[in-house]
Amino acid sequence: MEFPFDINQIFSERVSILDQTLVAGRRSAERPDLQGHIATVIDELGRASAKAQQLTAPITSASKLQSQRHQLYLLKDGESSGGRGVVVGFLKVGYKKLFLLDRGGVHIEAEPLCVLDFYITENLQRHGYGLELFDFMLQHKNLEPMLMAYDRPSPKFLSFLAKHYSLTQSVPQVNNFVVFEGFFFFNRSVAQLRKVPLKKPDGEIKPYSLMEREVVRQEQRTLPWPFAPPHSPQRLVSSQCSHSLSMRSSPSRAPPQVVPPSCPGCSRIQSPQSPLIDRYRERRSRNSCGVFA
Ligand code: ACO
Repeated sequence: MEFPFDINQIFSERVSILDQTLVAGRRSAERPDLQGHIATVIDELGRASAKAQQLTAPITSASKLQSQRHQLYLLKDGESSGGRGVVVGFLKVGYKKLFLLDRGGVHIEAEPLCVLDFYITENLQRHGYGLELFDFMLQHKNLEPMLMAYDRPSPKFLSFLAKHYSLTQSVPQVNNFVVFEGFFFFNRSVAQLRKVPLKKPDGEIKPYSLMEREVVRQEQRTLPWPFAPPHSPQRLVSSQCSHSLSMRSSPSRAPPQVVPPSCPGCSRIQSPQSPLIDRYRERRSRNSCGVFA
């Protein structure tokens, strides 16, 4: 993606990490005009991503980034466009408080890092840039992809996760988020998982989290969710949906609350013979980056 200004002047690194401040390194902090360019780049990327996902409105924009505690990883190719550089794509992540269902159907409150938006420009897709960006984020966060939640992943993204990280078995949810086998087991030691009582004083727990993506979708009210593989979670958001937007992000994590080992659905993946754990350990031993390093 080319712009009428010098990308290398704004983004000095191959991957820049942007947040609420819209600052990409010292240079842009000192130059308000460069911040305007940064906003232009983010807006343009957000629009292109929305178009690629057939959303009627972007879920990523400079103003949204300024108002939400998300992080946006931006990848450039500094050599292209006569040395001015081109923007290759972006990956947006953020912590979300979610109500999830484990394999046994137990409601679990969690606040995992979520992939919220991900886009590589059309002509550069399937060249390994997505993997480069995603791996960069994983290393930066010192995280494994299995520990993350994915906000309504597109078919391309699901294929990407299956290919590069062997994430194929999702645990069915009733919201738009996808988590994969191992999420509940491995997150118990590193993140916040809390069993949620089925009844709250003011009524039943409704494990739905309405996110930016869903807000956009509700605005559309046209196309159904285009992807429904055999193992994919239930995509329908019930009309009883508690429209409680989980917009709060928490960069500082609360102390872990461990789910009792007796929770239904945990027994299978806790088994020392679990092929999942074997596979995961094998992968871990090949890759030194991650929470178990
Ligand atoms: N069709 C099917 N699978 C695809 C496609 C495609 N057109 N493009 C990428 N993939 C998957 C495949 O598994 C592919 O492997 P293969 O070529 O052997 O089949 C693999 O990704 C390629 O890996 P990379 O080259 O590292 O990925 P890429 O640079 O293309 O980035 C991404 C992946 C971000 C999904 C990109 O394809 C894209 O921007 N797609 C359009 C926007 C989109 O769907 N974003 C995800 C939204 S959901 C969310 O953000 C939570």
